[in-house]
Amino acid sequence: MNVVIINGPNLNLLGQREVDVYGQYTLQDINNAATQFAKQLNINVTVFQSNHEGEIITRIQKAGQDGHSIIINPGAYTHTSIAIRDALASVRVAKIEVHLSNVHKREEFRHRSLTAAVCDGQILGFGPQGYILALYQLSLRAH
Ligand code: DQA
Repeated sequence: MNVVIINGPNLNLLGQREVDVYGQYTLQDINNAATQFAKQLNINVTVFQSNHEGEIITRIQKAGQDGHSIIINPGAYTHTSIAIRDALASVRVAKIEVHLSNVHKREEFRHRSLTAAVCDGQILGFGPQGYILALYQLSLRAH
């Protein structure tokens, strides 16, 4: 099984950015842990991060063409991007939305996700473990 982990804007700054909210781990740490965990599940992971909406859309489309499952943290685009929602809706692969923080405990503008309804499920509030939980869920479907 192949999975692409897509992280959106500002997630390249994890470890430096609002550490009280997002924690000390860098995106590299998170990607390394996810890749290692995936190996045990026989999942091949590709990681991708972009601060640009269009690049995220193109990467989602590619995953759809390749038949690769998607784990996505769209960052703030979660709350604003109809275009990313449409891209997710257009691909027929497994899709899980992940957020590090529990957005429901935060500002009201973070409570709405435009993207969650076109994903199979959402995992949030568990920090970097969310990506691990998403990988585990995908592995269960494969059997
Ligand atoms: C986030 C939550 C979003 O509201 C925020 O804009 C982010 C990170 C999270 O992982 O908790 O950039 O997606």
